[in-house]
Amino acid sequence: MEYEKIVDLAKRRGIFWQGSGIYRPVAGFYDYGHIGAMVKRRWENLWRRFFLGLDDNFYEIQASVIMPEDVFKASGHLECFLDPVVKCGKCGNVERADHILEDLLKESFEGLSSKELTELIRKHNIRCEKCKGHLEEVEERNLMFPVAIGTGKDKRQAYLTGETAQGAYVNFRQMFDAMRRKLPMGLAIIGKAFRHEISPRQALIRMREFTQAELQVFFDPDSIGKHPRFGEVEDYKLFLHPAAGKMEHVACKDAVKRLHLPEFYVYHLAKVQQFYLEELSVPEKSFRLKELSAEEKAFYNKYHWDIQLDLESVGGWKEVGGVHYRADHDLKGHGKVSGVSMSVNVHGKNVLPHVLEISMGVDRNVYALLELSYRQEKARDLLAFPRVVAPFDAGVFPLVNKDGIEEKAREVYEMLRREGFAAFFDSSGSIGRRYRRIDEIGVPAGITIDYDTLKHGDVTLRDRDTMEQARVKISDLPAVLKRFLNGGSLSELGN
Ligand code: ATP
Ligand code: GLY
Repeated sequence: MEYEKIVDLAKRRGIFWQGSGIYRPVAGFYDYGHIGAMVKRRWENLWRRFFLGLDDNFYEIQASVIMPEDVFKASGHLECFLDPVVKCGKCGNVERADHILEDLLKESFEGLSSKELTELIRKHNIRCEKCKGHLEEVEERNLMFPVAIGTGKDKRQAYLTGETAQGAYVNFRQMFDAMRRKLPMGLAIIGKAFRHEISPRQALIRMREFTQAELQVFFDPDSIGKHPRFGEVEDYKLFLHPAAGKMEHVACKDAVKRLHLPEFYVYHLAKVQQFYLEELSVPEKSFRLKELSAEEKAFYNKYHWDIQLDLESVGGWKEVGGVHYRADHDLKGHGKVSGVSMSVNVHGKNVLPHVLEISMGVDRNVYALLELSYRQEKARDLLAFPRVVAPFDAGVFPLVNKDGIEEKAREVYEMLRREGFAAFFDSSGSIGRRYRRIDEIGVPAGITIDYDTLKHGDVTLRDRDTMEQARVKISDLPAVLKRFLNGGSLSELGN
């Protein structure tokens, strides 16, 4: 699938585009139109339902995006959240050094030192991609977005958060008390993150302001070797690509034995994979969990497996999330800098909880969904979104706008909305064109009201993917539509 086709469709159909477009837009900022905003919200709701459902003690919280400097001293972001950049000595263009090499040599250079990257640039005689000028030495630049709180002499240094995770850590103590002092405890945040990406690109893939959905699971480190529900996944096969090795399908119990990963961690890898394969219907061949090497791992991680999807339009395997064992990195840091102890007492035992994090970028996932759902057929383009994340459940169409048919269609539309469906109404253009329009924004069901509806009280229900149609009684429509949206096929549901 071509990148330009996706970006063009996104623009035409109200999905996303560059922000502040009526001015000279700044790279890395994107706005969502009505369709994009709905898909994003439904993806987030699915995420909530799935990940908060993993344990009775997992909840969502909200935290500020502006936080004082000390937070990021404690987290290590001021010292370690760095990207290698290289500047052209002639035109001043600045690029990510590892990305220049990656684009040219088609392999990953994440985690190499500035010195190693400079040597590689010299060895391959790489010049500025804009003016062919000489590239200077690679240097490291911090990704945090500084902001000042207050004015004049009262200014206090602060930063926009680079990950939602810190909002959960700074609230850990209060939440532990409010949630009746139990471990494991999960705190989820769906919110904004900000990073001074050097070369934002590929639309929603690399932005400067983006949305993350992250779950921080706080647990007793002594219990990392066990998960109470591991039995449910022990034979489930994970699609693993170890750092030194190749892709293999490994049963969870073998990942524990052979790869020496703790049960608690492997259980969450399995849940993440099930979220993609079962909830989002990502094809098996397009999904993998990729282990990062010691050099590639984020500075706070002990175990780090990326969630990757194979996205042709942006060059193949792309990280859309990660499963991170951050150990005591964050709570220890915050305890030290704030002076507030992060240890807690659980059943008479003093514990400094460890953290397992499931981190996903919502925008990257929305982009991935677009690419993986985009089909070009002879007569039409369509977004075959999984039904749970489609922008609407159904479009409602009067076949013609006369003889009481439009009024009847409005009745059906209002009834579906009252029943809680995300329906929309369209009475303009031929019925074929209206179907094409909903195909292109990925609405799974089309409901047409015609002369027979007036006689027999039934409507045509059309399946976006197969274009099959069935007649359904209006009185049965809410129940049938519900079953259809839950994965039922028209042949089982209608006449
Ligand atoms: P990359 O290696 O691609 O720069 P990263 O390793 O810095 O990504 P993380 O810090 O692990 O990414 O962030 C967690 C998730 O947040 C990523 O998996 C991704 O989905 C999302 N994310 C990170 N940076 C961006 C960005 N600049 N634009 C959009 N999403 C992002
Ligand atoms: N919270 C993990 C990350 O942003 O990488």
